[in-house]
Amino acid sequence: MRHEYEVTDSCILQPKLISVSKYVTFFNPKAPLYPRLALGKSWDIMTVTWTSGYNIDEAVPFVEWGWKGQEQKRSPAGTLTFHRNSMCGSPARTVGWRDPGFIHTSFLKDLWPNVEYTYKLGHLLSNGSVVMSKQYSFKSPPFPGQESLQRIVIFGDMGKQERDGSNEYADYQHGSLITTDTLINDLDNIDAVFLIGDLPYANGYISQWDQFTSQVEPIASRVPFMIASGNHERTWENSGSLYNGLDSGGECGVPAETLYYVPAENRAKFWYAADYGMFHFCIADTEHDWREGSEQYKFIEQCFASANRHKQPWLIFAAHRVLGYSSNDWYAKEGSFEEPMGREHLQKLWQKYKVDMAFFGHVHNYERVCPIYQNQCVNKETSHYSGVVNGTIHVVVGGGGSHLSQFTSLNTRWSVFKDYDWGFVKLTAFNQSSLLFEYKKSKDGKVYDSFTISRDYKDVLACVHDGCEPTTLAN
Ligand SMILES: [Fe+2]
Repeated sequence: MRHEYEVTDSCILQPKLISVSKYVTFFNPKAPLYPRLALGKSWDIMTVTWTSGYNIDEAVPFVEWGWKGQEQKRSPAGTLTFHRNSMCGSPARTVGWRDPGFIHTSFLKDLWPNVEYTYKLGHLLSNGSVVMSKQYSFKSPPFPGQESLQRIVIFGDMGKQERDGSNEYADYQHGSLITTDTLINDLDNIDAVFLIGDLPYANGYISQWDQFTSQVEPIASRVPFMIASGNHERTWENSGSLYNGLDSGGECGVPAETLYYVPAENRAKFWYAADYGMFHFCIADTEHDWREGSEQYKFIEQCFASANRHKQPWLIFAAHRVLGYSSNDWYAKEGSFEEPMGREHLQKLWQKYKVDMAFFGHVHNYERVCPIYQNQCVNKETSHYSGVVNGTIHVVVGGGGSHLSQFTSLNTRWSVFKDYDWGFVKLTAFNQSSLLFEYKKSKDGKVYDSFTISRDYKDVLACVHDGCEPTTLAN
């Protein structure tokens, strides 16, 4: 039964009954929901993850898919879930707990590059009947190194918000729907999205994961939706997270690593590589040790080293907390202008492998930093970069929707552009020599900061400080 209340004087404590609707039931409470795409471990695999109420003893999950307008085939899906005792503490383990249902992932393999595919989620019931979702579509990734128009959106710290404006617990991500709607409006011009940590801010209230996943479904069901792990996904005391806070509300990473696929070797350790045409992405996990000598440090170096810069010239690093540079006020008060120890450990790698850009969230604003190495800007240009790659451009893009973060009033000499608003970055690779960077505000989708990079392969190979290959005088 559904009641409708009139709320007067904004007082939700004294609602007044104004009408009673007819009895409302779900057509199928177990129906497959919220398809979300992610790149697989190889460029020619697309993964589809969804949620349903069907366990494997009740129905066989599958995806029916194929070229748009052509014969569709079926691929199997694996099924995962998690239980209350997988949560590390309260509220996730107590008042915030809600059964997440069943999470299915299918691997659509042997994709042809740049082809429009259609797909449906399905469950084959034991009585022989089939439950199917509506039809969705995606475009397969380009072959690695292939030149075509390739457009990537990156941002962090999104959150969720009720579309009807109703109150909810932890209601502080008021930009979330604005970002969501702006991305949906431009979806025909976006090939993949990277949300680099702090997704729903469920903070142990598990139902908010479904709310978030429903909100982003129009995006995630059409383009690969690649996530990173943030403190609000992972951090919990005495649970193996690098930081010792309570930010995940007891989730300790379990909902994130189960509800969203990432092409990691171990999804509990959220670092992975991803190829998209001329881009090579190395996504790090700031909630696990990244410092020199750690397992993750080795991965980061291997990921950078595995990019053939002739074929994949655009090498991108991303992580949740700011391991590079930020003029955010709390980092300024600490005097570090970063998460402590971040760049001290990683700048050698960014420099050695000539990483083009490093993206971070966690700080809820936008800031672009000059091409930088060891706290020094190595290039005075701000709108067009060309020639030798002699420093990494650092970008904080954590204005995905959560409450905004203040900048320090100090004048940081490496800061090129700051914006206290919600927004996201869009990278457009036109070919192997030409890249466009744009920062867009969520409120209007317009560009407020941008630059271009033009260069040839020899510019990536060229020797720079702390980034020279060994040579010998012998011929
Ligand atoms: Fe964060």
